[in-house]
Amino acid sequence: MKGKTRPIPKGRAVDAKALADVQALLGDAPRRRDLLIEHLHKLNDHHGHLPAAQLAALAQEMRMALTEVYEVATFYHHFEVVKEGEPAPPPLTVRVCDSISCELAGAQQLLKLNLGPGVRVIPAPCVGRCEVAPCVHVGENPVGNATADKLRAAVDKKQHDCPIEPYIGYQEYRKDGGYKLIRDCLAGKLRIASSRACWWPPGAPVSARSGSICAMNTPAAARSWKKSSRCLKPMHPALCRRFT
Ligand code: FES
Repeated sequence: MKGKTRPIPKGRAVDAKALADVQALLGDAPRRRDLLIEHLHKLNDHHGHLPAAQLAALAQEMRMALTEVYEVATFYHHFEVVKEGEPAPPPLTVRVCDSISCELAGAQQLLKLNLGPGVRVIPAPCVGRCEVAPCVHVGENPVGNATADKLRAAVDKKQHDCPIEPYIGYQEYRKDGGYKLIRDCLAGKLRIASSRACWWPPGAPVSARSGSICAMNTPAAARSWKKSSRCLKPMHPALCRRFT
């Protein structure tokens, strides 16, 4: 087999109906492997979980090993793989983060809540919002500083989606001058010594790098570098000029 492409990925047999369902769901979207998470979201949104048979079909459709698909599908708490014969989860899942910050802020009390029929309350690992612990996901809606009342309100009002706050898009940000400093540096329009940016040219003493503003950011300071010091963290070549 060395050097040959395997026509069908190894793994479990693929159910014909599951394959047809997956193909219909993906439509003409590219089957590139970097789109795996996108496609898992499509399946998960459609079914409310990830049926195991469809994961095998997705692996075949994307010409990936089933283990790769499973690794991703079982890594994120948002995805839930349901094997054949297992009951599908209820329509709404409330995930209470019980990692350290949320645990200290009362996660265990929230885990005891009964939020009504069709709603299950389960623990989840850190959801990355430790600053508003305890944090609870009602469906996809992250509720910070969660209380029983807040969670009941979110369930009753069917607030299950993640609200998208107003934001500045990348193009708009650049148009308004975003990244100008780095662009000017890379284009050679700005001398490093004349800017207030913080970076560490090669040769900067290791001890000097612990400050937030570059202590070497003046020609005089640069002249005092010890030649024996070495830079442990080379920067972009355009930023790695020595002061003169
Ligand atoms: S510990 Fe709960 S969000 Fe991080």
